Amino acid sequence: MQKKIIIDCDPGHDDAMAIIMAASGASHLQLDAITTVAGNVDVAKNTKNALRVCELIGLHDVPVAMGADRPLVREPLEASHVHGKSGLDGTALPQEPAKQPVDQHAVDVLIEKLMASDGAITIAAIGPLTNIALSIRKEPRIVPKIKEIALMGGGTYGNRTPAAEFNIYADAEAAKIVFESGAPITMFGLDVTHQALATSDKLEELKAIDNPVATAVADMLTFYSGAYKGKFAGAALHDPCPIAYLIDPAIVELDSVRVDVETTGEFTYGMTVVDLKGATGRKANVHFARQLNPDRFWQLFMDALRSY
Ligand code: BDR
Ligand code: CA
Repeated sequence: MQKKIIIDCDPGHDDAMAIIMAASGASHLQLDAITTVAGNVDVAKNTKNALRVCELIGLHDVPVAMGADRPLVREPLEASHVHGKSGLDGTALPQEPAKQPVDQHAVDVLIEKLMASDGAITIAAIGPLTNIALSIRKEPRIVPKIKEIALMGGGTYGNRTPAAEFNIYADAEAAKIVFESGAPITMFGLDVTHQALATSDKLEELKAIDNPVATAVADMLTFYSGAYKGKFAGAALHDPCPIAYLIDPAIVELDSVRVDVETTGEFTYGMTVVDLKGATGRKANVHFARQLNPDRFWQLFMDALRSY
């Protein structure tokens, strides 16, 4: 049976790659909906980018729903220094996609689909967690219906601040609600996404695939790699990590741990406090991805692109 997933995202180069990977014939995932949230850029641009990606890959029958335009409490924060002003700079995707978002808020799409399900839907959350938190608050009965939330966020160190990763920092209050909700969470933080580095040989491999989707992804990667130059051996493909795991769970080693989200610290706002040593004695709420199999990751990534 195909795994049913909803991708909640803020595309974003690595979000776009995650959608492309999930929607590929090679993934064996069933993409039920794409919901968008303010994050890398504003929610209108992120939504348009999701639609542009759908157009690129011919994904006509999957609804795209626009969600929260700001975090629960704080002012919106962007990452256009990484993804460019459009959120998806450096790519030749259709500028004005024909596909339109559905006439329903992302939160209502999430609630409707989860409530109508028999507990088989997984959420891949790869942006700030605002939509997921709002859905839980609006309809708490969705929590036992969620099969799993595979999320990209947090880590034992940060990228937006020394302590905090962007997705959690962008809406830590929402992240706190989600982490404390009781829903099964599998967390792909920076510890593991920094193991998925697109070195120059990967870019060459991608270019050699030579189909329109792989070429577009190569362009995305070329732009996105700019933000990593001089700091890392390649760009970190954060958001494809949870997708790779949903395709093949054996790709990561997981630890069952307690993770709490800091919302008040002067220097640590948005930090995910990962209790790796069991110091708190508190009940584990997260499957924390510690170790990635990079060879398998790249195999899945390239297979997905070859399938277009
Ligand atoms: C996360 O932040 C965003 O810029 C990326 O799309 C990813 O989801 C990495 O910290
Ligand atoms: Ca993202």
